Amino acid sequence: MQSLLYALIQAIHNIGAVVIVGVGAYGLFFAIGEYRRLLAGVQAFAWVIQGITGGAFGLTTFHYYHQLPDIHGTAIAVLLIKIACVILGFIFSATYVIYCTRFSKTIEKIYWWPMFMFGVLALISAAFLRWFS
Ligand code: HEM
Repeated sequence: MQSLLYALIQAIHNIGAVVIVGVGAYGLFFAIGEYRRLLAGVQAFAWVIQGITGGAFGLTTFHYYHQLPDIHGTAIAVLLIKIACVILGFIFSATYVIYCTRFSKTIEKIYWWPMFMFGVLALISAAFLRWFS
């Protein structure tokens, strides 16, 4: 049951990662106009899902072992980077949804860079978390 729970959380977490990075890349390099706002909304939702499923890993471990995962050093550092990416990534995509109609074309383009790069950074951090924990 425990393994099934971890696997289901991981499945949603992995799909969330694909959506965040995929939408970020598409919004930055290919999408145009009003369509970008919809993409930013999808990305904001995916950031929330990542935060919830990321926390669910810890809660599952706590439920079964009555303590949080025993991680140190690099693993803690990259976990904090991931959490920062979730917070900042969500702020960027949510503010894009709300304020994008007031953005100039240049600001709009620049804005998509962090929306893409926070996802890339979180993905790189995931690799370090995997092998340093
Ligand atoms: C609150 C933020 C987050 C937390 C607490 C969190 C936590 C975790 C944990 C505990 C794992 C399992 C690590 C292991 O296999 O030992 C994991 C795996 C993973 N996370 Fe996150 N995560 C967060 C955000 C993100 C974000 C934003 C992304 C990507 C955009 C991401 C992508 C991944 C991927 C791809 C894996 C699978 C790594 C592998 O097994 O190779 N995570 N995450």
